[in-house]
Amino acid sequence: MRVAQKGVKPVAGRELMTASARSGATRDPSELLRAANVHKTYQMGRHELCVLSGAALRVRRGESVAIVGASGAGKSTLLHILGGLDRPQTGGVWLDGEDLYAAPAARRTLLRATKVGFVFQSYHLLPEMDVLENVMLPAMAVTRSGAPRRNMRRRAMGLLDAVGLAARAAHTPMELSGGEQQRVAVARALMNDPDIILADEPTGNLDDDTGRQVLDHLFGLSRHRGRSLVVVTHNEQIASASDRVLNLRDGALHEI
Ligand SMILES: Nc1ncnc2c1ncn2[C@@H]1O[C@H](COP(=O)(O)OP(=O)(O)O)[C@@H](O)[C@H]1O
Ligand SMILES: [Mg+2]
Repeated sequence: MRVAQKGVKPVAGRELMTASARSGATRDPSELLRAANVHKTYQMGRHELCVLSGAALRVRRGESVAIVGASGAGKSTLLHILGGLDRPQTGGVWLDGEDLYAAPAARRTLLRATKVGFVFQSYHLLPEMDVLENVMLPAMAVTRSGAPRRNMRRRAMGLLDAVGLAARAAHTPMELSGGEQQRVAVARALMNDPDIILADEPTGNLDDDTGRQVLDHLFGLSRHRGRSLVVVTHNEQIASASDRVLNLRDGALHEI
């Protein structure tokens, strides 16, 4: 429950409800992620670029949702907002019932690290670390020092094995092909066993066959583990493999 603001007399009823309760009445326990009335405008000098204007979305546990839309429609912006990386001007995002942008920054960082796995179009692997260390990275960010590193290594190796890259654990990312790097990124996204994976055009830099392999891993691992998946894509195959497809158009999401 929120503490009443200084100087504001607590009143009974609605005003005492938490932000998440106020915005959604009773919460559906199968709902993992919700975004409501998201507005985002970029300020560039004297110009304003309105990218999102009332985008809304619900993702259930274990559900896969594809987001399609023209280049520049705001898909990456939306995905960043959904994952707690970029604050909207108005509207909110609730992850597992918790209001991401009402939470203090440290709490938001922790929620993001433990509940969200990101996969980016350009992999975002750290070149100075080997493949195994790259996969372990999210765990290192949230585990207290002294936590058994051996367990982390075992888990990371298991995930690399699941994407067929256990034998490449000691290689650096640059020694891998694009498709292999993206499979490492998928393994990394799963390291903290997140509730949801947010993938931004994960096959955008890959040829069809390689892209298909990455997708099989992404969908396979999330399905196998009952995790939710939101994938931004131009790829019709990805879209058709998803439970739902939404089109981001004129700043809002439309079912198609
Ligand atoms: N940090 C930023 N500052 C200003 N404009 C931005 C910024 N990020 C994105 N944009 C603009 O917002 C629009 C939407 O971008 P983006 O979310 O990347 O779209 P998409 O992923 O659908 O291609 C584009 O016109 C882009 O140039
Ligand atoms: Mg984009």
